[in-house]
Amino acid sequence: MLSDRIRFTTCYRALSGEDVRAEILDGLLRPPRSIPSKYFYDGAGSRLFEKITTLTEYYLTSTEKAIMQDVFPSIAEDIGSIDIIELGSGDCSKITILLDCIPNDLMAGIRYIPVDISRSAVMKSSTTLLERYPDLQIHGLIADFQNDIQSIPDGAGRIVCFFGSTIGNLERNEAKRFMNRIKSIMMPGDRLLLGLDMVKNTQVLERAYNDDSGHTAEFNRNILKVVNRLLRSDFEPSRFDHSAYFNSEENRIEMHLVASENTTVNSPFISEPLILEKGESIRTENSYKYTMDDIAALSSISGLQISNVFADEREWFSLVEFSAE
Ligand code: SAH
Ligand code: AVI
Repeated sequence: MLSDRIRFTTCYRALSGEDVRAEILDGLLRPPRSIPSKYFYDGAGSRLFEKITTLTEYYLTSTEKAIMQDVFPSIAEDIGSIDIIELGSGDCSKITILLDCIPNDLMAGIRYIPVDISRSAVMKSSTTLLERYPDLQIHGLIADFQNDIQSIPDGAGRIVCFFGSTIGNLERNEAKRFMNRIKSIMMPGDRLLLGLDMVKNTQVLERAYNDDSGHTAEFNRNILKVVNRLLRSDFEPSRFDHSAYFNSEENRIEMHLVASENTTVNSPFISEPLILEKGESIRTENSYKYTMDDIAALSSISGLQISNVFADEREWFSLVEFSAE
């Protein structure tokens, strides 16, 4: 046993199952082809994403962290014995900015609940946090934040965190549904801290997803390795080009993998090989960007009140505090 201060629960049962294969094949077999972006995050994908967060082009992480450095000291002032829940927690590096503001003598009353679909991310980051904060309690949930939200333990005065603009990877209607689900588990006095990437200059946006070092391209191609494991298929990632561009009608970055030659893909789970012609594309991610009107719509649809909007000077990123009354 690691320690009596740390435990893990697995809620996400589907990773090797039929449901996952059906979900992936549903998107792959008919044009416009797509793969759900949650399949980016196996161990290698999580490590590649961490590299992306250090790139100067990928302004999202540095901008959100700078906002956090400014506002977390005041948020930490009125923290008592509470649960801090982080959805899509990844490497947990953002929550340390908040935890560092909490006095040591209050730490034993705090329970941190990271929720992520990536087992390796939850295990690794929880263990690191346990070493860094000797009195913190940790309950890691390996769970899908869209489907397993009811598995989050009850509590009062909680802070639910959803950083990094991960909500941007949900379709607009999914994001609204997600906000309703969050509202359904929030009690009066609970807060939600939501990080959102804002609509901005197209060049800035496109550079963030087309970095010079090629880490985003590698991250993008890695999804085919994940699919190969799940479908026992034989996608050859090097035969696909990375493409990412801003769709200004939908206010979203779209990431695609484009076949650089005619390609045939086999899997025991499909009756005929999948044939992709040169130039055919598979969409791997939408990353929606938000306006203040979109944020107001998330509030009105869910009934969660906006209590604060924190932003950087350029207004590239917003950290929005919602409260359940
Ligand atoms: N919050 C971190 C990580 C963002 S990357 C940051 O801001 O830097 C997105 C994270 O969400 C990854 O760790 C990924 O594994 C997780 N994720 C993606 N889809 C998910 C889902 N449906 N349920 C739970 N976690 C998910
Ligand atoms: C996790 N998510 C918010 C990232 C994004 O910007 O949409 C994932 C990512 N895709 C390419 N780079 C980073």
